[in-house]
Amino acid sequence: ALPADFAPRLIHWQARDGRHGLPWQGTRDPYRVWLSEIMLQQTQVSTVLAYYPRFLERFPDVAALAAAPIDEVMALWSGLGYYSRARNLHRCAQAVVADHAGRFPTTAAGLETLPGIGASTAAAIAAFCFGERVSIVDGNVKRVLARLLAFDGDVGQAAGQRALWDLAQGLLPPQPSNEDMRAYTQGLMDLGATVCTRTRPRCEVCPARGLCLAFEREAIARYPVKTRR
Ligand code: ADE
Repeated sequence: ALPADFAPRLIHWQARDGRHGLPWQGTRDPYRVWLSEIMLQQTQVSTVLAYYPRFLERFPDVAALAAAPIDEVMALWSGLGYYSRARNLHRCAQAVVADHAGRFPTTAAGLETLPGIGASTAAAIAAFCFGERVSIVDGNVKRVLARLLAFDGDVGQAAGQRALWDLAQGLLPPQPSNEDMRAYTQGLMDLGATVCTRTRPRCEVCPARGLCLAFEREAIARYPVKTRR
């Protein structure tokens, strides 16, 4: 059985010890949340903090971004790296304008049809902006959940990822308010980034220590299981 206590503990921990006051946390505008999630995919928070406000100042909404020349988008992205993100960003803005009347879809399934928005980014936007009861499963979260559940499937393989996502759905709070989904989703990200880290997890301060099967078995380093591809 999955630990029913995980969600309430994580939500409580996020409020006390999670990250707060980041500029993209103060909004439910899917354009702003989407932009932050794309920037944060392969880039540290500290770097994104310098680029995010400049980008929004030049492109305050999805229509402004869609109408801009790609060269201007690339110029504002310059320094963030992984430039396919910027090209997809522009294509996505144009798709929202052309195919969705300028409004982002309001479900993870709808968001996932857009250029550059994968399953985890779609889930993050849907949970943060619309309170959808759906789990993110990015790299950090795979590690957190694989340890919590001592998940022996291979998270580097599609079958293992699917199995872990099913388990992740089972860990969600049962009847979450929009605010619960925001705190839970941010809590998963924060736990992976600040406590359940890859090399030196800080289990002594983890809100899920009493539930964590890998901790109980002294097998933290064994998870997540990932064969080289
Ligand atoms: N990394 C990806 N999404 C994030 C978020 N919303 N806050 C902090 N770090 C993140």
